[in-house]
Amino acid sequence: MTTDSDLIDAAREIQSRAHVPYSEYPVGAALETADGEVFVGCNLENANYSNSLHAEEVAISEAVKEGHRDFSRLAVSSGRRDGVTPCGMCRQTLAEFCDDDLVVLCDEGEGESPTEYTLGALLPDTITEEMLE
Ligand code: THU
Ligand code: ZN
Repeated sequence: MTTDSDLIDAAREIQSRAHVPYSEYPVGAALETADGEVFVGCNLENANYSNSLHAEEVAISEAVKEGHRDFSRLAVSSGRRDGVTPCGMCRQTLAEFCDDDLVVLCDEGEGESPTEYTLGALLPDTITEEMLE
């Protein structure tokens, strides 16, 4: 079984693959599926800054392309271990595929418990597919 700490470790480890020549702020994300698989992602910046991919977008893309649509937990970590949370854009991207009860764990560093949110708390009253029917 993957513990919260395992998921945080996965989010830390993938930061070594981040491409962050502009911000020098690596971010890693580890997304657990309902059936216990873990998909990771890191931020990939671009010389045209707005083309940059965020760690959470990369992680969820990896999972969805493999056919996963049910998720239970997400861990997010930055190189600074500063409790970074998914940005507004990533919250909306997560909401496309994850329920409000997705647990979001934010890395506060060694010896500290991660701060725990739910996606619904981070992004209430989300626009959803149903609203566009
Ligand atoms: N970043 C992420 O990867 N995820 C977030 O949700 C917060 C921000 C990245 C984008 C950029 O490469 C760097 O962190 C600084 O904003
Ligand atoms: Zn983001």
